[in-house]
Amino acid sequence: MKGGVSTSERDMLARVDLPTGQSPGLPADAYWSDGFFRLERRRLFSRRWFALGLAADVPEPGDMLPVSSAAGRPLLMVRGEDGELRVFHNYCRHRGMRLVDEARSGERRIVCPYHAWCYDLSGALVRRPHYGGFGVHEHQPAQGPGLEPVRSAVWNHVVFVNLDPAAPDFDEVVGPLDRRWSCYDFRRLVHGASLSFEVAANWKLAVENFIDIYHVPYVHPALNRYLPMDEHYFVKEGEYVVGQGSAAYAPRDEGTGRLPEFPDLDATQAATIEALSVFPNLLVTVFSDNLRFILITPTGPSTCRERVEIFFAGEAALAPALARERETVVERFPAFNREDVDLVGRLQQSFESAAFERAHFSEFFDGNVHHFQRMVAHACAG
Ligand code: FES
Ligand SMILES: [Fe+2]
Repeated sequence: MKGGVSTSERDMLARVDLPTGQSPGLPADAYWSDGFFRLERRRLFSRRWFALGLAADVPEPGDMLPVSSAAGRPLLMVRGEDGELRVFHNYCRHRGMRLVDEARSGERRIVCPYHAWCYDLSGALVRRPHYGGFGVHEHQPAQGPGLEPVRSAVWNHVVFVNLDPAAPDFDEVVGPLDRRWSCYDFRRLVHGASLSFEVAANWKLAVENFIDIYHVPYVHPALNRYLPMDEHYFVKEGEYVVGQGSAAYAPRDEGTGRLPEFPDLDATQAATIEALSVFPNLLVTVFSDNLRFILITPTGPSTCRERVEIFFAGEAALAPALARERETVVERFPAFNREDVDLVGRLQQSFESAAFERAHFSEFFDGNVHHFQRMVAHACAG
């Protein structure tokens, strides 16, 4: 180790810092080893902003939800009596007991199950029973440690957190994307559907597959018919956002074209779809009439969970008369996603076989994947 970067980390940086056409990419063990999984938790997910859940997971004051996070640390989302959403580390300040094990609602206090220390919903310690001896309770202790807060931000219904108090502001991550997508009035978003997939692959393969258009004609022939590969363009906004778009989106399925669109889109914007990744674990696809999120959470070195949330462009989309149209949007997703989930599972097996040692990237197509791998490597090194 020198300067906090080990030899293997230096080797990894040397691999990813080459130009795309020469880079061998991340080493294969970054996709299956326990050691790299722990490194990612400690260095990447414990220091970067990442997507944790939806603001609607705790809709009402008094709601709370424990979340086992990508950083490997149990967190607690709480909707305060003031309506504010806050995130805390889910442990008690006395001797570290996990505070909340399941979703709750209508609460005004968080009471530790071990020795009954009591916190309010803003995280302040409000009572320590028998703290000074038998019957000597302490109320509103001025010096008492409150719950350890976690920085959080809500972006278009998605809750992001950063466990590092010294990390840059969240705006650095999504500011460039907000400017790119300023033509969409996301204040109109209404929730339409939720889906969830268990994926037998490392979380990075799920992200890389999403920002790879090279595979589309071969894995998704149906999708390729109305979104041809050669109509795509590549997108990069700042350091954190890469993906692709097309301004020739013209689905002809039964039931398409009647849902309300975001207002004031011009003809090009109305035919545009963009599918972008927000580093590290949020995938977003915008259409003229809906917005889809995929939150990817690693569940082990070789597995992850995809949580899919589909939003429509205004209350009018929820009209009973549009049920068939909404279903078409929702049903189309699992069909394509199953093709991808199957594919990344096979990729995972190949990575674990030890035969695969390096990629040979296409200079033209693999820039997004290479960029993502470089972001991972630099987050994990040092
Ligand atoms: S660990 Fe919570 S009150 Fe003791
Ligand atoms: Fe795909």
